[in-house]
Amino acid sequence: MVNKVLIATNLTKKYKDRIAVDNVSFDVYEGEIVGLLGPNGAGKSTIIKMITGLSKITSGDVKICGVSIKSNFEKAIRNVGAIIETPTLYGYMSGKQNLRYYANLYKGIPKSRIEEVAELVGLKDRIKDKVKTYSLGMKQRLGIAQALLHNPKILILDEPTNGLDPNGILEMRIFLKNLAKKEKTAILVSSHILSEMEALCNTVAIIDHGKLKQMRSVKNLSSDLNVKSKIAIKVNYPNFAGKLIANKFGYKVDVAGQNVVCEMLEKDIPKVTSYLISMKIPIFGITAVSKSLEQMFLDVVNGNDN
Ligand SMILES: Nc1ncnc2c1ncn2[C@@H]1O[C@H](COP(=O)(O)OP(=O)(O)O)[C@@H](O)[C@H]1O
Ligand SMILES: [Mg+2]
Repeated sequence: MVNKVLIATNLTKKYKDRIAVDNVSFDVYEGEIVGLLGPNGAGKSTIIKMITGLSKITSGDVKICGVSIKSNFEKAIRNVGAIIETPTLYGYMSGKQNLRYYANLYKGIPKSRIEEVAELVGLKDRIKDKVKTYSLGMKQRLGIAQALLHNPKILILDEPTNGLDPNGILEMRIFLKNLAKKEKTAILVSSHILSEMEALCNTVAIIDHGKLKQMRSVKNLSSDLNVKSKIAIKVNYPNFAGKLIANKFGYKVDVAGQNVVCEMLEKDIPKVTSYLISMKIPIFGITAVSKSLEQMFLDVVNGNDN
């Protein structure tokens, strides 16, 4: 059975009369990577701060491994590893010395755990070098290693790829996926970049104006929204073919170069192509023109999702 590591129920945050987070509920399972996706100011950081005790919950609750952070914060937070802002690292010390320093702040972390986390975040080879020689991505990963020292059940990261170059983003993604898969660590991350969330997460929670607009598994993120499919059909006489399609099926068509471009129900695609062939119009290619991810995201946020 897969366990729920985190249950957020009706989380709400009010600043005076302004609602920053409005009745947000979601779960995170063991080994699952959940992404909070939304534009700047949507409320992602506030959700994360409430979960980690950095911001007082106005109403609602969070349970971590079955323990409410309201009634037993100490016990609940023991299962959490988090980086909210940039981690505090000492540049003049080596990665290992930094980890040792933090390990000493907790009780009962065996020495072997330092080696373990260094390996987990892929810093084993550089762990004896001074942190000031690290790239930003390496510093981020050392911060995560630090957050993992006490073996938390859930890792919470607010915009972990901010400021990273594409290579750093890729390394971070590989490492987080590995962590979820091998250690069964649940991961909650936030980002305002849809493509990044799509590549990293199992589940994406779309947050806008403090509300949870939609929670969906990433597999479905592109397919679910495309009940209709936009396709480009390459033909010799696109204007003529376009008119035939418009007249016969009532679809609105555009012409782009040699292509007739048309958004149609997927079940109509074979009918349309058969019809063109029956009208002696040879087809040289059919391609799906996918809605851009950004457009899809905007559709969900603006309620045009169909
Ligand atoms: N300390 C604060 N006081 C008042 N308003 C705040 C405070 N922190 C955040 N907010 C407001 O709450 C909303 C959500 O902010 P935030 O959670 O930082 O969004 P995100 O992380 O998605 O960019 C924003 O409108 C922001 O201005
Ligand atoms: Mg934020």
